[in-house]
Amino acid sequence: MKIQGNTVLITGGCSGIGKIMGRMCLEKGASRLVIWDINEFAIEATVRELSALGSVYGHKADISSPESVDKAYVDTKEACGDVDILINCAGIITNNKTFAEQTDLDIIRTVDINTKGAMFVTLRYIKDMKARGCGHICNITSSAGMLSLPKMALYAASKWGAIGWSDSVRIELQREKSPVRVTTIAPYFINTGMFDGIRSFFKVLKPETVARKTLRAIEHNRGYKGIPFTQHFIRLMQGIFPVKLFDFLFGDVCGLYTVMDHFTGRRPAVKLPENKKKAC
Ligand SMILES: NC(=O)c1ccc[n+]([C@@H]2O[C@H](COP(=O)([O-])OP(=O)(O)OC[C@H]3O[C@@H](n4cnc5c(N)ncnc54)[C@H](O)[C@@H]3O)[C@@H](O)[C@H]2O)c1
Repeated sequence: MKIQGNTVLITGGCSGIGKIMGRMCLEKGASRLVIWDINEFAIEATVRELSALGSVYGHKADISSPESVDKAYVDTKEACGDVDILINCAGIITNNKTFAEQTDLDIIRTVDINTKGAMFVTLRYIKDMKARGCGHICNITSSAGMLSLPKMALYAASKWGAIGWSDSVRIELQREKSPVRVTTIAPYFINTGMFDGIRSFFKVLKPETVARKTLRAIEHNRGYKGIPFTQHFIRLMQGIFPVKLFDFLFGDVCGLYTVMDHFTGRRPAVKLPENKKKAC
């Protein structure tokens, strides 16, 4: 679906690739950009910054809460009308501990945001899109959704779930001959700050590259896109290599199984004053 002339909603649109895609959508002539994010201060700043490029509407939403999603959906509909393109981009990584060291809360947060969040948002919009006979849903997953990765078992699980769900919905719509399309994006590590500290044998991607390729995949109605292209061979190699050989090549030789050892995650750029912290 063309970006030009359409309303685009991006969850997690205040940071990383979500924010860059928002800017690029406006540059491509989107009629309106809608940003949903959990970070109220970042929404204000992003709306102010991007409004120079076109019409931008921001709304606080915690995508892991159906009630919060409902409120954002109703308010957005009232303020902006229909959404043509939905990009589910919000996501988190909690830590680099082994699974045995995680807490119930880590499990709940990771799956609620990375897997169920996109489902809650999509459930609201897919009905509208089907009724209108047009629309595009893009889900940002991860190559961690095809690999088994130590010290990111929860993240990997949440993204395996996201890929399975997203691509199943694509097939459902296709079989119904619906004009509504689904694109699943599975990028390798991106240099946004989310995975700061990792040491990767393979090149870490530039955020602009992933944002550009994602929007192009939407415009070309691609069903599934691994970034870079070589990600498409992961499943093939898992299928043909014995487990021990796959572990040796990707885990030991390419270092994928130690990639999280030095993970720090994004450090807050600015220390918020105490009064602001409370308001958050
Ligand atoms: N950075 C990477 O290496 C990488 C690699 C592959 C896939 N991804 C995926 O791409 C997406 C974007 O990654 P990024 O690096 O740009 O992340 P980021 O941390 O820069 O941005 C994520 C945004 O999501 C928002 N968010 C977090 N929880 C939320 C919630 N409950 N409700 C609404 N908004 C919420 C945050 O406030 C933030 O603005 C994520 O889904 C991530 O899992 C990232």
